[in-house]
Amino acid sequence: MRKQIAAANWKMNLTIDKAKSLLDDILKENTSPAENGQVIFAVPFPYLQMASEKIDGKKGYSIAAQNCSNKKSGAYTGEVSVEMLDSINIKYAVVGHSERREYYNETNAMLAEKIDLCLAQNIIPIFCCGEALEIREKEWQNEFVRQQLEESLFHLSAEQLKKIVIAYEPIWAIGTGKTASTEQAQQMHAFIRSVLAGKWGEETANNISILYGGSVKASNAKELFNCADVDGGLVGGASLIAPEFVQIINALKH
Ligand code: PGA
Repeated sequence: MRKQIAAANWKMNLTIDKAKSLLDDILKENTSPAENGQVIFAVPFPYLQMASEKIDGKKGYSIAAQNCSNKKSGAYTGEVSVEMLDSINIKYAVVGHSERREYYNETNAMLAEKIDLCLAQNIIPIFCCGEALEIREKEWQNEFVRQQLEESLFHLSAEQLKKIVIAYEPIWAIGTGKTASTEQAQQMHAFIRSVLAGKWGEETANNISILYGGSVKASNAKELFNCADVDGGLVGGASLIAPEFVQIINALKH
């Protein structure tokens, strides 16, 4: 079975003390993901090391950066390179979150560069895609997401693609409390998998974990994660509340 992933995206929230106690509260529940399960905390850069120490030795737990630079190294003030992340043993990086695309003008071409750098450094990119409300209202979401995949991923080999995780996050469902229905989520996830299959073949497509993101909470996680092509979630708001996130971990398919 594909890897089933509960990924917390803390965004720009929590001071260090709150971050530590949130992790402690989640970890003390001793929630072990199943054999094929993975729990990932995408924490702000200054907390990467603290969070890595907290989960050290805990099976099925990893830490992610929320972003990385599209440049390898050098005079890019304020940026964080994949080499730096690797040097502190970070295994995942979120790439192309809609907030990065919208507020920091990250383009599909820049994201292709980030993906390449991550893969060269053995960091698994969690590549985010998804459409805004205007696109959904016009029913152009499939074409829109296909273009995001084409422009950021289609240059990869099948071997490279197998190393990435995809997160489908309809922008209209992020932080709005409005979740995609299970039908909408399953339809888009199946569509994404068909695009991958068209380019790299069924076997490769069937190996890729595709997470759903957008107002995932304890109360809707199970039904979303039970969809055939939904392999877990990328969770913002609800990942900041320990009991919510523990239930979301427990909702992963076994
Ligand atoms: P949300 O955020 O769960 O608060 O909607 C999800 C995300 O942006 O990754």
